[in-house]
Amino acid sequence: MPRVIFAGSGQKGTVRIGSTVLDAALSLQAPMEHVCGGSASCTTCRFEVVSGPENLSPPARAELALDLGPGLRLGCQTRILGDVTIRIVKFPGKTVL
Ligand code: FES
Repeated sequence: MPRVIFAGSGQKGTVRIGSTVLDAALSLQAPMEHVCGGSASCTTCRFEVVSGPENLSPPARAELALDLGPGLRLGCQTRILGDVTIRIVKFPGKTVL
């Protein structure tokens, strides 16, 4: 099972392969917001990859259409395929320290 680390907030653990980053955050109690409930319309679940970008699913069509900014992804649209370290970015762009 992939190992996920939330840099800054410190939560870490393993998740099922194919889980979304948002699902991982919720199960590990990392402070990722999700105002729209995962429908790719609020962008409050945004994050940046610290390590292991090759272990995430490619950007979804919804992410590409939203123009999130350099290096930013949506937790509700990104699936975990292997070990990864991510940093939650608080809306409208503050990183969790
Ligand atoms: S939860 Fe709203 S865009 Fe991801």
